[in-house]
Amino acid sequence: MQLLIKNIALLVQVEQGAPVHSLAGKNMQQLPVLENAFLLMENGRITDFGPMETCPLVQAAQVLDATGKMVFPCWCDSHTHLVYAGSREQEFVYRIKGMTYEEIARQGGGILNSAQLLQQTTEEVLFDSAMERLAEITRYGTGAVEIKSGYGLSLDSELKILRVIKEMKKHTDVEIKATFLGAHAIPQQYKTNRQAYISEIIQHMLPAITREGLADYIDVFCDTGFYTVEETSEILQAGALFGLKGKIHANELAVSGGVQVGVQHGAVSVDHLEQIGQQEIDCLLNSQTMPTLLPGTAFFLNIPYAPARQMIDAGLPVCLASDYNPGSTPSGRMAFVLSLACLKLQMLPEEAINAATINGARAMELQQTHGSICRGKVANVFITKPMPSVAFLPYAFGSNLVETVILKGKVVHTTAKG
Ligand code: NIG
Ligand code: FE
Repeated sequence: MQLLIKNIALLVQVEQGAPVHSLAGKNMQQLPVLENAFLLMENGRITDFGPMETCPLVQAAQVLDATGKMVFPCWCDSHTHLVYAGSREQEFVYRIKGMTYEEIARQGGGILNSAQLLQQTTEEVLFDSAMERLAEITRYGTGAVEIKSGYGLSLDSELKILRVIKEMKKHTDVEIKATFLGAHAIPQQYKTNRQAYISEIIQHMLPAITREGLADYIDVFCDTGFYTVEETSEILQAGALFGLKGKIHANELAVSGGVQVGVQHGAVSVDHLEQIGQQEIDCLLNSQTMPTLLPGTAFFLNIPYAPARQMIDAGLPVCLASDYNPGSTPSGRMAFVLSLACLKLQMLPEEAINAATINGARAMELQQTHGSICRGKVANVFITKPMPSVAFLPYAFGSNLVETVILKGKVVHTTAKG
């Protein structure tokens, strides 16, 4: 089945020459576009695109007219925790009254609060609520997403989350990667014997999870009050033995050593990075690890933003993701993440778009199939409402400019009239 979009005012993030797998430094400003273009999709893939004058006369089954509108590759959101139970607005109120995220966590709130709720929730209920969140982010233009476990913190509950993620993969055309985050917090009953919980992760959870093929990556929250560098190293090493590469939480709350330990273990990405300096930047410059920034978290927790400008100016790539989770970022709306990146991280709109598309794909090792408009790539794209320029998207921070979402070459959502 063919789908043709014609009269596209601007086709954004087109790859014409040699494939680009991620963009770093000054190159992050390069956002290749085509004016007055067409895009042809067939059997779930992008088969052709180009200027309207060269639009082939196809007997396309479906034709969409995008006059005045733009077409983007769908967002690649490489860091979320969207399988969770309940919500945590009470903690949001505590923070308004002056408590910090760490204080709430120390008192058994935070991640442990979500873990308790999740342990009491059935797989079916978790699946339904996670599918609703997935449908929501799909409407906002996300076409590939990484989802972490980490609100289980026991063998059964971690398996429960990861099985939900596996089931989700069967019910969506959003590309999903799963990450095992047993090391998200130390459960209350292990507070005085951390090593016993780490052994549980390594000796019981990892083998069970990999036996069922439930995870693509392994994650550790390497930060003050959570996991130390040594513990992170031990867990990443064990994950590697089971074939899982790292995608880790690093340097959110403190200069934790998380960046260095992630890079040492060849992590695909190190995420958060609100607390980094020149040493971490130098370490990342000598690596293949994608630095991933989550400005929605800094916004919601009122903590400092990551130094994206310094990182890009030093020649690094930067990826943007939502961190959608009930505690620190109850939102998976990538367009707002882009607005924050522009306003708070001083990223240019073009840099932010690259960070949320091709670099996001790279952070999930999906750069061969997602993250740009390229012949042969999966046809996950969205059509915007009429927009005067690319910068309008992060500028109009409160508006949902995503009008039609196409996954694997099929329209899955539209608010377009007619
Ligand atoms: O990425 N930082 C660790 N984990 C999540 C927050 C989890 C929570 O508070 O529930 C994050 O921000
Ligand atoms: Fe996170």
